[in-house]
Amino acid sequence: MTHQEHESIARWERRWLSVSGLMSSLFVMLIAYSLATEGGHIAQRSSRTTPDKIATNPLFAEPGVRLTAPNKYQVTGVAQAFSFNPGEIRLPVGAEVDFFLTSKDVIHGFQIEDTNINVEVLPGEISYLHYTFDNVGEYLLFCNEYCGISHQNMLGKVVVVPASQFTQVAQTTASPGEQVYNGNCTACHQASGEGVAGAFPALKEHVNKLYEAGGRDYLINTVLYGLQGPIEASGATYNGIMPAWSQLSNENLADVLNHILSTWETPADFKPFEVSEIEAFRAQPLSASDVYNLRQTLNLGGQ
Ligand code: CUA
Repeated sequence: MTHQEHESIARWERRWLSVSGLMSSLFVMLIAYSLATEGGHIAQRSSRTTPDKIATNPLFAEPGVRLTAPNKYQVTGVAQAFSFNPGEIRLPVGAEVDFFLTSKDVIHGFQIEDTNINVEVLPGEISYLHYTFDNVGEYLLFCNEYCGISHQNMLGKVVVVPASQFTQVAQTTASPGEQVYNGNCTACHQASGEGVAGAFPALKEHVNKLYEAGGRDYLINTVLYGLQGPIEASGATYNGIMPAWSQLSNENLADVLNHILSTWETPADFKPFEVSEIEAFRAQPLSASDVYNLRQTLNLGGQ
């Protein structure tokens, strides 16, 4: 090959490289543009579960719509070949909605027509997305991942009604303690109580042991004053900081402790927390390190 031929080939190579480079940048820019202007909804993994645990997971024990705070709803849904549970989701227009979705068997899609909700629902994972329906109407919900012989019949619907027509009758409403939990605790400890391995300890299968180890007072102090120091929980070590929640009312704290101790495992000798107890401990301020020292006195036996 002459030098000239070589130069000519190299020139074409540079041109094609530039074209593919430009195309890549264009695609990234289009994605960024649609996220910024269309309010893209990328589902996030909120936590894990496994198909055999769905029935005992408090989120999915009764899939459906729940009020979690004023004008805020939680929708939990389970997909399985070839249906969605619930098949019909009723919501008031304009409400903030948190969807938590999982699959019992294979990968399904969860797409709602006329919205940009389109997520994959995977067995073993809980997909989360946040949405507000601004228009009243009936929206078709369908599976868009081929999942078997009757995939095309895997349909449901979302019915968005004016707030005045939305009745709570058929809805399960979260208890006051669950509302406090959903509003303050799920970001770290997760709605499932399973925490995030390595970052936030599980409450499930753990808090009951703290209680049984003589930790009733310790639990009150932990929610009031936080916790700081290296701990072991469910066989893993953690060295984070739990913030104090003393800004919540005594009633809120009693409710949330009762919710936590009655949702997963309830200690045999459990007596519901009283507002007056929280009040009594609030009168004796501690630091997060004091609470840690208190934890060290519990009889956790290698826990
Ligand atoms: Cu489920 Cu296709």
